[in-house]
This record gives sequence, structure tokens and C-alpha cells, in this order.
Amino acid sequence: MSDSPKVPQSPTVLGSPDASGAELRIADAAGAGSASEAKGASDGHAPTSTGSVLISALAAHVGRVVRLEGWLKNMRSSKKLHFLELRDGTGVVQAIVSLGDVGEALFERAGQLGQETSLRVVGEVRAHPKQPGVFEIGVSALEVIAEAHDYPISPKAHGTDFLMDHRHLWLRSSRQHAILRVRHAIIQAVRRFFDERDFTLVDAPVFTPNACEGTSTLFETDYHGQPAYLTQSGQLYMEAAAAAFGKAYCFGPTFRAEKSKTRRHLAEFWMVEPEVAFMDLDGDMQLAEDFLCFIVDHVLKTRRPELESLERDLTRLERVKAPFPRISYREAITLLQQAGKEVTFGDDFGAEDETIISEQFDRPVIVQRYPSAIKAFYMKQDPEDPALSLCMDVLAPEGYGEIIGGGQREDSLELLEQRIAEHQLPKEAFEWYLDLRRYGSFPHAGFGLGIERTVAWLCGLPHVRETIPFPRMLSRLSP
Ligand code: 4AD
Ligand code: MG
Repeated sequence: MSDSPKVPQSPTVLGSPDASGAELRIADAAGAGSASEAKGASDGHAPTSTGSVLISALAAHVGRVVRLEGWLKNMRSSKKLHFLELRDGTGVVQAIVSLGDVGEALFERAGQLGQETSLRVVGEVRAHPKQPGVFEIGVSALEVIAEAHDYPISPKAHGTDFLMDHRHLWLRSSRQHAILRVRHAIIQAVRRFFDERDFTLVDAPVFTPNACEGTSTLFETDYHGQPAYLTQSGQLYMEAAAAAFGKAYCFGPTFRAEKSKTRRHLAEFWMVEPEVAFMDLDGDMQLAEDFLCFIVDHVLKTRRPELESLERDLTRLERVKAPFPRISYREAITLLQQAGKEVTFGDDFGAEDETIISEQFDRPVIVQRYPSAIKAFYMKQDPEDPALSLCMDVLAPEGYGEIIGGGQREDSLELLEQRIAEHQLPKEAFEWYLDLRRYGSFPHAGFGLGIERTVAWLCGLPHVRETIPFPRMLSRLSP
């Protein structure tokens, strides 16, 4: 009697595309037991995770009846049709409920579903008559898994604070979805790049006994009665790893406690840090250049629709090709002075300075050899000019600022001890690090790339708060 589709032969296809006369069955999970028992189990529609088709895979099912599971993103209605916009995390599809097919009562019920109601839909996949690659579902059965009422994020505009307070829900919106998919592609490229080049992944600890990037930005914790700090960088541990593996990298969350409220600062951010034995500053700059080109290329190849939906100017990203210009800190100072900025040797660059420098170039620019006085204790002294460090920063174009910082490390035990004293760091805490210079010291270099600033740059976002699923900032610890 029932023309509800039979138990599928293939787990994803629910019978022939005969939707005529199919009744719209709306089973409310609340009324029919738990969602997993609702309806289906008894009639071949067991809501298994393998039985449904993903929206991203609809092209392979045109002309067949399939089952989809997802959330109601939006709905438009006319007298005899409801156009349900259904999303499942892999895409969005229009599911059409027709009064003629389903009868008045159920048609009315479907029209009352709230935004973000979770649904299970059965229907025929049709190719959109005019838009290639777009599909729609002619609904023959529909099951409510859980209703949603008064979803806080409606299609109207909301303020940033409101959206950040509802970040756990905001992630469902198409813009956030696109950004985080680009983030994923960047991380994919990061891993692929190093894995394909014989780097060993060596995880660095999060609790650390000492500072790496200056004592003013440490988050202190009580570690069983003694102070410990959340890591600012895995670098020092990667130097140990470079001595063990030659080429190593770590990738994980890092922390900075500066009371900085800029659009580039997070209290918790993800950093990837390669470290290579017997590599010098030139090799380090080369590695950073190859790495960034690889990331941009991968993202352009795999996430073009997402970048387009974010209205990113792709021609700017397509220009990111080797070689990147390399200028010295001294040249950068001259460049800033020519632009009318009052800077002198010894000044660090602020966001505005970095923007002026990066705007002179159409691709990332590498600034090398900063004064030692404004850089971390571990930087190697330039043998040709002891006031300088053999370090480099990569500045992203279009004013996105520093995305990579790194350089060659001081490999002289004596000079390193001197630097630790100058920086008034507690020597005991660095004994293990000094051991790396005591037992077979070796020239080595590396860098750190901040994932969130890279996401901001590639997506063209004005602020890093949208580049990470759950941002931690000066005034935000929730959700
Ligand atoms: O320049 P930084 O501080 O370098 C280091 O930590 C080195 N120990 C890395 C190394 O050589 N292994 O940080 C590196 C990068 C920056 O260029 C930036 O992209 C990112 O990390 N970064 C931040 N991102 C977001 N919020 C913050 N507060 C950041 N601080 C640094
Ligand atoms: Mg830096």
C-alpha cells in the first residue's frame, strides 16, 4: 500500500524516482521517542549515518530518490509550494514541498517549521533547469528530527558582539562556513608541505617552565604549586627536535597575554613552526617563500568557491609567486622615511609601518636583519654587523601585516648565555636549551607562521576574530 521507498539496495538510494502520490510524513521526534527511534527504524528509514546522501554528492544521484538529513536554513512559500533551503554542512539545496503531492494538513505543517529545525527529507534529485551544478529535491517525505523556534541569528543584520556571543550558532552561517573551510585547506597545505619534504612532526608541550618570546606576554598558571606558563612558541623544543631529526615541525595552539586589542591579536592562536639543522637565514627565507606559495596555490585550487563567496579579489592571490622581494631592515626604515614616517634605526614596526612597507609590493615581502635590541634573545648575531640579528619577518600584502617571524638561532654557547643575561631571563630555566649548544651545537634556523593571520589575509578579512572557530581575545573567553 505505502509507496514510501523500499529499503534501499544501495545504502544511499531509496527506490525509483516515483514520488507521485507519496504522502508527506512528518514524524516529530519528541512525539515518537528519541530521534533515533523516530519513524524510520520500523519502515526501513533507520536514521543511520550511512544511509543518507550528502548535498555535496547530489550530482551522482540525479533522477533518483534519496534521503537527506540537515537543517532548515530558510524557507520561501507560495500558495501551493514551499521552497525549503536545506543545509547539511557540505552544501545547501532547495527542497520543494508541493501541496498537490502532500495534502493540505502536512503542507501547512511544513510551512510552520522554524529556521534551524533539523530534518530528514526523502525526494527525487533534479538538476536545476537553468543553473548547471545546482540541484533540487522534489520532496516526497519529510520527517522533523527536532524543531527549532526563535533561532537567534535571523537573516537580518546583527552586531558583532551579538554574533560573537552566539559564535556556537554563528558557525552555521554561510560566511563563517566558507572562512573555516579555507582555514582547513590552509592547515591541510601546511601539513602536506612539511610531510612531503621529510619533516618529522614533533609536538611541543603547552605547559612550559620558561618564556620564549619575552616575559611580558606570558600566561602564568599554577602547576602543582609551581609557576608554569602557557607556551608562546614551540621553537625552543623544535631546536632540540632539529638536533634529533634534522628537519622537524610542530603545529599547535600558542598563547600571548599582551593586553592588545588590535585586529591582529589573539590570546590563543595556532602556529606552525619548522626548524631545520644546518640551514642558514637564506635557506630559511627560501623555505618560507616556498611554503607560502604552496599554501596559496592549494587554497586557490581547493577553495575557490568559498573565496568567491567571500568576495575575495583572487587576482591579488594569484600574484603570490616566487621570488618574494627581500629587503633589509635598514632599507625598510629608509622606505618609511620616504613615505613621511618619523622612524629611526632601532624602532620596531607598528601595524601602520608594516602596511606602508607591504603596499610597495604586489606579493609578500621579506624584511631581514632587524636590530638585535628589538628581537628575542635566541636570534643569531649577524657576524658582519653585531647590532643586527640574522632574522626575518614576512609581511603579507594588502596591509595584512606580519604572518611569519623567524631566523637563524644563536649557536654560540657564550653569546647565548650573554643574551639570556641581557634579557634578564632566569638561566636555570634555560639550562636544557643551553645543552643544545654544549653537545654538538649546529647552525640552524626556522620560523613560525600564524594560521589566523594567514586566514585573514587569504579570505580578505579585516579582523582575526572570524578566522578561528572559538576566538580567545582580551575581552572574550566565551563561548
Ligand atoms: O613573530 P613570532 O612571535 O615568532 C615566534 O614566536 C617564533 N618563536 C617563531 C619561530 O621562529 N619558530 O610569531 C610568529 C607568528 C607571527 O608572524 C604571527 O603570524 C603569529 O605568529 N602571531 C600571532 N597571531 C595572532 N595573535 C597573536 N597575538 C600573535 N602573535 C604572533
Ligand atoms: Mg614576530
